[in-house]
Amino acid sequence: MNEVRVAVLGASGWMGKVHTMAYQTFPHFFGSVGGTARVVALVGTERADRADLAARAPGAKILTDWRQAVEDPEVDLVDICLPDNMHYEVAKAALEAGKHVACEKPLAESAAEARELADLAKARRLITRVGHAFPRNPVHDLAKEIIDAGEIGEITMFKGCQHVDVFGDPMAPFMWRADGVLAPTGIVGDTGSHVFSFMEFLVGRVASLVANNIVVTPRRPVVAGAAMGAGATLTGAEDWAEVTNPDATQLLCRFENGANGIVDFSRVATGRKFMQGYEIYGTKGSLVYTYDEVNRLRFYTNDDPAGRRGFRAIDVGPEHPSYAAFLPLPNFSLGYNETKIIEAAEVVRSVISGQPMWPTFENGHHITQIVDACMASSRLRAWVDIPLA
Ligand SMILES: NC(=O)c1ccc[n+]([C@@H]2O[C@H](COP(=O)([O-])OP(=O)(O)OC[C@H]3O[C@@H](n4cnc5c(N)ncnc54)[C@H](O)[C@@H]3O)[C@@H](O)[C@H]2O)c1
Repeated sequence: MNEVRVAVLGASGWMGKVHTMAYQTFPHFFGSVGGTARVVALVGTERADRADLAARAPGAKILTDWRQAVEDPEVDLVDICLPDNMHYEVAKAALEAGKHVACEKPLAESAAEARELADLAKARRLITRVGHAFPRNPVHDLAKEIIDAGEIGEITMFKGCQHVDVFGDPMAPFMWRADGVLAPTGIVGDTGSHVFSFMEFLVGRVASLVANNIVVTPRRPVVAGAAMGAGATLTGAEDWAEVTNPDATQLLCRFENGANGIVDFSRVATGRKFMQGYEIYGTKGSLVYTYDEVNRLRFYTNDDPAGRRGFRAIDVGPEHPSYAAFLPLPNFSLGYNETKIIEAAEVVRSVISGQPMWPTFENGHHITQIVDACMASSRLRAWVDIPLA
């Protein structure tokens, strides 16, 4: 195979747009990755969007039922950008139909479902990928290089966070993200899973944790057509919907390798438009990253002579292959969409070469285990062990 034929499901939404762009754009930056991709089908439910969809991927079939894409013999890769509660059912159907699958996070609503999907993909020898694109920013490859080279020694502590204020305003309209049926784990699967992806990539597996999930705003107005984070002028006649999943979480954890972790994330962090970061402390040094300086890693090492020690700021630049693919000069900044282009190039490379790349459904299962453990721990008010076998 040297052309991967892709169907994007949920094509009218945010991720649907980004993924459709990324499959078509990556050859501009990465050239052939052993082949290329063609978006052959877009699935959206908004009929009004049909002309827009057709313009985004000329020649693609515009469908309204995801089953048509999953069963289409002309589709090699099913890319799922649908709401969280559909991921398991659609990914399972796609794998059963013999398709490679890229699925947005969170992979599934429970670790058991994620396990089933990972096993199914393994049994059918299909390529899988979960849409944790944040760690594809080359700055995190640099962090991993430093950790793997032992430059910060044994990791003792991971501190991570992700804060947004899409629901910071108590009057911000209700949407599927706050609905415990459509998104059963709320902020934990939605945002927590991003922080957990950094943990899985940079530190290792989590063995146990204790978490506190909280609902900060129990009811929100229902405003037809409201988009995420949108303000709305309320008429006073709105229906109100119960927020039935967590708004924010704080957790302590212990990693398999003995490191400890402190993590918190929230969608009601008023004023924090997007704050993501980690600090990783080791026996010989440490690393600090924040999304406000998206291509910068701060590195401290005990190897520096006394009197000269301090955090050095390393800006990822053309020395790093996935940065160089976009820009010939340092400090021009790669942003979110570039990480999705890197992801699309890797997905296509994987399908063509048959070589899985991080994060596969197996990693998605590990991350879903952490989500599950947070839900259980908060319910039980107790530490929960995660089976690592
Ligand atoms: N990796 C990331 O950084 C990231 C960022 C945002 C969202 N996400 C994930 O991506 C997924 C989509 O999120 P989004 O923000 O794009 O949501 P969105 O609401 O913008 O888009 C979802 C789309 O799915 C469509 N849809 C719903 N039911 C459908 C059905 N039965 N058939 C076909 N289409 C249907 C909706 O009409 C909508 O266009 C979620 O799982 C979310 O958690 C990941």
